[in-house]
Amino acid sequence: MKDRRAFLKTSMVVAAGAITSGVAPAMGTMAHKVMFPKGIIYTKEEPGRWAKKVGSHLPMVTVDGGKVTIETRHPMTERHYIVRHTLVSPDGTVLGEKTFYPTDKRAISEFEISGHHPLLYATSFCNKHDLWVVQFSV
Ligand SMILES: [Fe+2]
Repeated sequence: MKDRRAFLKTSMVVAAGAITSGVAPAMGTMAHKVMFPKGIIYTKEEPGRWAKKVGSHLPMVTVDGGKVTIETRHPMTERHYIVRHTLVSPDGTVLGEKTFYPTDKRAISEFEISGHHPLLYATSFCNKHDLWVVQFSV
């Protein structure tokens, strides 16, 4: 059982990182095509002017059962930090949100959700490098 959980956890991190901004993967019978506005929402595939910032700004998603963890591997300093994470469904329902402060040591948030969600969005907002999004499923 523990091995299965580790596999699922690893799979979700890989899936979240592999999803493109233009086309979400076909999951079951659902396939979504989402085009995010360039220069407003940044993704791994469309980092725009922040191309050198992907590693420190793209939210990393880990799923373990009903627990969704979002982490942005970004320094947290008084002048430059991650402001906020959100977890959002395709219809715009905010399933979770967390606001950070420069004094927080890490930009990491955890949410409990139930059920199967073929498509969800995790967002991370940097006070200097704008809004980043990944798509994933639970
Ligand atoms: Fe930043």
